[in-house]
Amino acid sequence: MDNNKSWIDQRFPLTKVWNEHLAEYYTPRNFNFWYFFGSLAMLVLVMQIVTGIFLTMHFKPDAANAFASVEYIMRDVDWGWLIRYLHSTGASAFFIVIYLHMYRGLLYGSYKAPRELIWILGMVLYIALMAEAFMGYVLPWGQMSYWGAQVIISLFGSVPFIGPELLTWILGDYAVGDPALNRFFSLHVIALPLILVVLVFLHIVALHTVGSNNPDGVEIKKNKDKDGIPKDGIPFHPYYSVKDIVGVVVFLMLFSAAVFFAPAMNGYFLEHANFIEANPLKTPDHIAPLWYLTPFYSVLRAIPPMFGSQFPGVVGMFAALLILLALPWLDRSKVKSIRYRSWPYKVALGIFVVSFIVLGWLGMQPVTELNALLARIFTAAYFGFFILMPWFTSIGKTKEVPARVTEK
Ligand code: HEM
Repeated sequence: MDNNKSWIDQRFPLTKVWNEHLAEYYTPRNFNFWYFFGSLAMLVLVMQIVTGIFLTMHFKPDAANAFASVEYIMRDVDWGWLIRYLHSTGASAFFIVIYLHMYRGLLYGSYKAPRELIWILGMVLYIALMAEAFMGYVLPWGQMSYWGAQVIISLFGSVPFIGPELLTWILGDYAVGDPALNRFFSLHVIALPLILVVLVFLHIVALHTVGSNNPDGVEIKKNKDKDGIPKDGIPFHPYYSVKDIVGVVVFLMLFSAAVFFAPAMNGYFLEHANFIEANPLKTPDHIAPLWYLTPFYSVLRAIPPMFGSQFPGVVGMFAALLILLALPWLDRSKVKSIRYRSWPYKVALGIFVVSFIVLGWLGMQPVTELNALLARIFTAAYFGFFILMPWFTSIGKTKEVPARVTEK
């Protein structure tokens, strides 16, 4: 044993891990606003797990009692209303943070080599998060929980050959009911949170293996001083551990404003129909998932059925999601950051962002002829961004990337 080391370091690499990942982990010194969202995503994940533990103490995963148990949490459990609203508003906050985090990746080309695996692990996180949120929304057993589940799960019934059997297998019954609620509860409180935590760990391990990108897209490891420390790097702790606290404080101010003054956000965070208990005999006028899933729901609705089957729409919806995985290989640009990109990329990114937002909005609206046409146009624009990417990232004039990071 090395007696120069503390008792704990002789038995566990505490100081080594602290230094490698915090005190001596060199991070680019030019991080801006967009770099707050990774640490905020971790904060929201922890918040969801902690509030979820307390909700689980009072919630009943049983079709006959679930809705009433949520009402009991809201009215009778001490501070139950706060715990529930922190959790339900937290779900929307999670997606706001994640969408900004992903957009940063697009702005600064953070998915490009050598960070492809960070992006892929991020995408798996995003998909797992969508599944987690969808199943969580079913649990309070309101009208939208029930009918949303009905619509989304019935899509699996459109898979050729095995559809009907697959549907029964997923539901554990011939319709959405108690077995579905029970298994969604199990997946929502145990399986998916576990998967999310493991994935976040892997995401960070991959990030710390290659190092962070930055708003200039300059690789700081290419320019080191005589001690092997990147000239443009500063230790994560205390510089960014302290800076991230600024992001946390501002985030908590905005988040508290939503939780205390508009927890349902006029139907955007908790739909009006979900304050009515599930009724299998009464379909709501208009069924739509929550805002963070609606861009993909729009793609589903934009693609017309073929031979009476919705399968093409289902394939389109999953393709819209999975195509993001190919981004690192579709982008042929020599530069990473938007600061030095050519104008065709800037225009294409603008069209992509508008398409995603319009698809999201359309997904919340009832289907009309005009809405269906718009959904088709913007679905084409959405896919166009990826399909044409090898082309528009290899044309146009890029600006020269500086050797060192810049400061405004
Ligand atoms: C629970 C979800 C997630 C958590 C907790 C998380 C956490 C983090 C953290 C702490 C960082 C480093 C700080 C930062 O760069 O902001 C990071 C970086 C990164 N994340 Fe995530 N992330 C999540 C989801 C995602 C998703 C969905 C994507 C994209 C599909 C993604 C892509 C990236 C990329 C590309 C980087 C490197 C960025 C750079 O160096 O410029 N992450 N993530």
